[in-house]
Amino acid sequence: MTEKMSTHQAEEDVRNEGIRIYVDGRVVPKADAMVSVYDSGFMLGDGVWEGLRLYNGAWAFLDEHMDRLFEAAKAIDLDIGMDRPSVIAALRDTQAANDMHTDAHARLMVTRGVKMRPFQHPSLSKSGPTMVIIMEHSRPRLPRPIQLATVPHLRGLPMTQDPKLNSHSKLNCILACIAAEKAGADEALMLDVNGFVNTTNACNFFVVRKGEVWTSTGDYCMNGITRQKVINLCRENDIPVHERNYSLVDTYGADEAFLTGTFGAQTPVGSIDGRRIGSGELGPMTERIRALYKDLIERECA
Ligand SMILES: Cc1ncc(COP(=O)(O)O)c(C=O)c1O
Repeated sequence: MTEKMSTHQAEEDVRNEGIRIYVDGRVVPKADAMVSVYDSGFMLGDGVWEGLRLYNGAWAFLDEHMDRLFEAAKAIDLDIGMDRPSVIAALRDTQAANDMHTDAHARLMVTRGVKMRPFQHPSLSKSGPTMVIIMEHSRPRLPRPIQLATVPHLRGLPMTQDPKLNSHSKLNCILACIAAEKAGADEALMLDVNGFVNTTNACNFFVVRKGEVWTSTGDYCMNGITRQKVINLCRENDIPVHERNYSLVDTYGADEAFLTGTFGAQTPVGSIDGRRIGSGELGPMTERIRALYKDLIERECA
């Protein structure tokens, strides 16, 4: 049997046992990092989050992450209770408390806070938001290209929990991932409401066909920061790139496929629904885009 894997697989790092976690203004040892059972995030998945990566002492694309966080909070009518510089200060304080310099990943979460009673109405959250930053040492480690399976769970329309929101509630994506695992794959490839290939449960999805790079129109998927950087890099380097509708027929027949996300940057896809994609290994275009992205990170996090 092939080893179970996910796109967020990292090298074991014993230092992560001793990390300190930011909880509402205090940076405390992992064992003491707690939120209330009445917290809106725990009880209802009512919150938003960002995943950020530290390279060479700098948080990559910090402005874009802050834009997306504040936009998402506004969309769910959640007052973060801190301005942008204060959120960035919290991130840096957590980094300093953990003495982290590179290859670290932060999950910055803001929920509607502790509720008065165990019910859904947002007005029951009276004490202000809860903010948590979990920062771990992490270096992605993938022993082989990822295997995907398509699943019945769709990327929904914007009026039912807009899939652009990085909400705490990820149940649709989790159900998709479970279905993919039960089909023997690592992660799920999700279609949009029209049956076009859209994204995976945790990353954005690209195919390469005859020297062209294709990704979805951007509707129904997370507005991934890495996705946009890859599109920009293609444009700047004369690699034809298209945001378009395409089907599973185009996907199975692709020369290469890869995923994008802050954690793994570009992850090669080896197979989809048991069909080998291209050679089944890291392809030359994915390799080129990886190198361009690595250069971009070096410039951004100099
Ligand atoms: C569903 C989903 N797709 C894609 C991404 C990748 O986005 P980014 O490149 O901004 O990390 C994420 C990351 O949070 C996600 O949750």
